[in-house]
Amino acid sequence: MGLSSERLKDKVCVVTGAAKSIGFGIAKKYAEAGASVVLLDIVPEVRDSAKGLADAGYSARAYVIDITKRAAVLELFERIAAELGNIFCLVNNAGVVDQRPFLDNTEAEFEKMFRVNVYGTAWCIQGALPSMVKGGEGKIINFSSKSGKTGSSLMAPYSSAKGAIIALTQALAYEYAGNKININCICPGITDATGVWGNVSRGYIENLKLPRDEVVKKFTAKVPLGRLTDIDDVVEYVFFLTVSGDYCTGQAINISGGREMH
Ligand SMILES: NC(=O)c1ccc[n+]([C@@H]2O[C@H](COP(=O)([O-])OP(=O)(O)OC[C@H]3O[C@@H](n4cnc5c(N)ncnc54)[C@H](O)[C@@H]3O)[C@@H](O)[C@H]2O)c1
Repeated sequence: MGLSSERLKDKVCVVTGAAKSIGFGIAKKYAEAGASVVLLDIVPEVRDSAKGLADAGYSARAYVIDITKRAAVLELFERIAAELGNIFCLVNNAGVVDQRPFLDNTEAEFEKMFRVNVYGTAWCIQGALPSMVKGGEGKIINFSSKSGKTGSSLMAPYSSAKGAIIALTQALAYEYAGNKININCICPGITDATGVWGNVSRGYIENLKLPRDEVVKKFTAKVPLGRLTDIDDVVEYVFFLTVSGDYCTGQAINISGGREMH
């Protein structure tokens, strides 16, 4: 099927970490295409984000959920499917980052990176899959990172967790290909005006002892296309994988201006 947003009309699309930044951008794009959008986030502000979309005339609702709590996640997805119908699309955008020298990394830090980024993604997929299988179609888009392909210095737990998301994506792409469910992941480069880059840039300022503008210059210089990633760059690819890309599964797609090429 070609690139047609018509395909999303009234389809149930769930986006995690949708209170702000990339997640909200994706939810808004789906809403504008006529989908019935469900915004999930651990912070209550997600209700205001969904209300803004609903007030503009779109179909949007929000639930506050911690995606690391498996039982609560499975229960919520059952409720969403019962109230709205089969889930067509799940975007596992929620994620957390941390930055410090490896020898200072504690067990708690490693656990947090894996619990939110990997387990949270896995639980949401377990929640959404039964209704996708029932509906005979589905699109799952996970969030890895450039750091999941080529690990980032000072970010060993995050890089390891994002690498695990690529393997999880591939395993499930094989397992559910026969159910017409496409499972891919996105590997963004440094994305401007987001929470993750806010935390990472603060870490670099502290760990590399550089002022913010030098940090931005240093990392922009590594990008062949000469700028950091915009939220819209990521939103466009996620949208493509949702409304088209039917012959694409198990892929880890770089959205990094050429910073990552494999
Ligand atoms: N921003 C970047 O530079 C960049 C680069 C590569 C990959 N990524 C990935 O893209 C995704 C989005 O990044 P962002 O910068 O927009 O993030 P962000 O920090 O701006 O937003 C993430 C959202 O996830 C939510 N969240 C965190 N823990 C949660 C939990 N346990 N349960 C439910 N929600 C939770 C947060 O409340 C927040 O609203 C992440 O997976 C991130 O790792 C980001």
